[in-house]
Amino acid sequence: MCGIVGYVGRRPAAPLIFEGLQHLEYRGYDSAGIGLIKADDTFELYRNVGRVAALLECFEPRQSDSHVGIGHTRWATHGAVSVLNAHPHRSYHGDFLLVHNGVIENFKTLKSFLLEKDYAFYSDTDTEILANLIEFYYQQQATTEPASFLQAVQEALRHVQGTYGLAVLCQDCPNHLLAARNGSPLLIGIGDNEHIVASDAAAIVTYTSQVIYLRDREIALMSSDDLQICTLQSENVSAEVCTIDWSPEEAERGQHEHYMHKEIYEQAQVIVNAIRGHISDDFSSPRFGGLAPLGNRWNEIDRIVFCACGSAWHACLEAEYLIEHYAHIPVEVEYASEFRYRNAPLSKRTLVVVVSQSGETLDTLAALAEAKRRGYPVVGITNVVGSTISRETDCGIYQHAGPEIGVASTKAFTSQLCILAMLAVYLGRLRHMDYTEGVSFIQALQELPQKIEETLLLEQQISEIAQRYYQSEQFLFLGRQTLFPVALEGALKLKEIAYVYAQGYPSAEMKHGPIALVSKECPTVIFATQAAIFPKTLSNIQEIRARNGPIIMVATGEIPMDPSESEAFVIIPKTHPALQPILATIPAQFFAYHMALRRGCDVDKPRNLAKSVTVE
Ligand code: M6R
Repeated sequence: MCGIVGYVGRRPAAPLIFEGLQHLEYRGYDSAGIGLIKADDTFELYRNVGRVAALLECFEPRQSDSHVGIGHTRWATHGAVSVLNAHPHRSYHGDFLLVHNGVIENFKTLKSFLLEKDYAFYSDTDTEILANLIEFYYQQQATTEPASFLQAVQEALRHVQGTYGLAVLCQDCPNHLLAARNGSPLLIGIGDNEHIVASDAAAIVTYTSQVIYLRDREIALMSSDDLQICTLQSENVSAEVCTIDWSPEEAERGQHEHYMHKEIYEQAQVIVNAIRGHISDDFSSPRFGGLAPLGNRWNEIDRIVFCACGSAWHACLEAEYLIEHYAHIPVEVEYASEFRYRNAPLSKRTLVVVVSQSGETLDTLAALAEAKRRGYPVVGITNVVGSTISRETDCGIYQHAGPEIGVASTKAFTSQLCILAMLAVYLGRLRHMDYTEGVSFIQALQELPQKIEETLLLEQQISEIAQRYYQSEQFLFLGRQTLFPVALEGALKLKEIAYVYAQGYPSAEMKHGPIALVSKECPTVIFATQAAIFPKTLSNIQEIRARNGPIIMVATGEIPMDPSESEAFVIIPKTHPALQPILATIPAQFFAYHMALRRGCDVDKPRNLAKSVTVE
């Protein structure tokens, strides 16, 4: 939530920051702003409500002579969407400009303290308080050197409770930029006589692939040719320089009208990436080098607890079905936000697995911290190399799905489904699963990208179904067993991008309440690919049809249903049961996408949402 860009170096700062903000817009997009230090060492500040492009109404980036600046695209937490609440925030006496991602929890205490010191405030934000707190401590310093700038920020942050990614400018230090982090991601790109600070690599990768990921409670003070990183307690930090492993083109939309559309179409390649290097030499089992640190502990584990949010939580629910079925290990799936505050009894042989596309979701990070505090081994599954989850977990698996920019998760979700199915079979092969079962899974895994390509050919058909139903205001999504998480995911996609109320249920659960909603106006999307239990699903279908509810079926060809008995019938290719949910998900993604288009919604930037949820 919220995107930050900061620059100090040889290039004109304003165009680079503006372009960087556009790359980060998926993190928040209700208002934006840019603050610069001009050649005469004074500040210039531009802010507007709306998208980053709306900044062009008040300034022309190419006319600025600045080489140092900060920018921000906001997802409002404290204070309504307004120009005054937009970042950067200027301190009361005008010495500092600051952009912030995160939440200052003790903002009331800090504000009272500053009010007693005769500070006044123009905005409703917690960020302005921080700008003033830094200024207050700066004015206690003996000099106006960069070292005093650093000390003032350290002192202020020592009084802060909460999360922050910060970029700060000080008018007395016109050649310096300061960045700090606690709980909100921030990285520093290292270029040729330049440094770029950003919330994620998308804003940096055009200029350099060399980055440092700041850690919690670290502060970086930089000029064009110098970078000093230390802790809040002034201990020097020697940070590791990492290489971003994807190209700028991967973060572009290409020929596609929306990122979501592009990302749906990338799913075959994403599965290839998820599989690469993860198949045993005898083709009978997945393998994961990243899990090696756990050694033989896998054999001792008697319970796995998954923690995640949103779509990643749905992927974990899928893992519960698969791991219990193939490896006979009891699994629980927790909302990360709940796990943190629950006193869930865990045994000594429990393994905790956190799953997060971004690797930065605050609720998931909090669950991870709680699990570690209680001494449990924690495995991470994430898409973002260098993310907090990748650094804080004991070991893990990277998704290698490439940057996911669309706010609605698509390729990252199916990649998680694939990796978790592989994990289930990996654990199964360590325990009960025999060689031939393992081989048949691996064969299906290798054929999966081709079957995804075949499933993508269904787009036109699904677009026509959306045309028939786009005015419906509520939907049910039903599926049994491994298709229940797909039903949940299909409903979430429709809610978040088409703003249509949708609820996912296990198919049979429908008659315990949701059936009251069924009518001509409430279509039901049913996923049915398990022939053995189809007669039960057929009963549910009849119950809905008896109440005039339209049925949209997503099924494999072997399902014995007369297509004329549903209003729409989508046939997907058949694959191994552990992988079938991946193929079943694709029609749900297309359906939400085409519903959103027809309803005039902004597919990639749905209202009220942001891609990476870094607040509680
Ligand atoms: O980055 P994460 O996987 O941790 O994100 C978790 C959720 O915020 C995310 O899946 C969200 O629900 C998406 N908007 C779903 O499309």
